[in-house]
Amino acid sequence: MIDKLKKLPVLIEEEKIQKRIMEIAQQIDRDYNGEDIVVISILKGAIFFTVDLVKKMKTPIQLEVMQISSYSGTESTGELIIKKDLDHDIEGKNVLVVEDIIDTGKTLSYLKDYLSSKNPKSLKIAVLADKFERRKVEVKLDYKCFEIPDKFVVGYGFDVDEQGRNIPYIGYLEE
Ligand code: IMP
Ligand code: MG
Repeated sequence: MIDKLKKLPVLIEEEKIQKRIMEIAQQIDRDYNGEDIVVISILKGAIFFTVDLVKKMKTPIQLEVMQISSYSGTESTGELIIKKDLDHDIEGKNVLVVEDIIDTGKTLSYLKDYLSSKNPKSLKIAVLADKFERRKVEVKLDYKCFEIPDKFVVGYGFDVDEQGRNIPYIGYLEE
């Protein structure tokens, strides 16, 4: 393990994450009112959030995964590629995109355009963390767990060079 992950300071503790996800899960259940939805989890970071969220929901789901790349290390390259696309058609379906974090907004804005072009019945976005201070492209977020300061977060799915994802809380790298 890299040194800086050994004593990673806590930004949001485990219990607080789970409590907030429960609130969002209940809100989603109320909003969809028993209709089926396709949950698209954005690999790899959102896996942890997705699993905890959908297990707390009563809404029936079909799970899809996509992988988009925009980052290497802590620097944004600005370039986006679909590394893993949908396995099934989403036309006429209620789609909920589950993402770990919105930073500049480029990833979610790109995804929203891409998924809209496939004519879903509805398209909503759930994010775990919103780094609102860094937004460059506006994206409407339907469900948001936490607004966070402009810090590089690690843990609960977030990585620094592919490390630290299984740290159970959301921590941050000190400057
Ligand atoms: P955006 O396109 O700038 O909104 O960036 C979104 C993507 O950047 C996320 O899906 C993450 O993979 C990555 N990212 C942004 N901030 C962080 C962070 O603090 N820790 C880990 N990954 C991050
Ligand atoms: Mg990501």
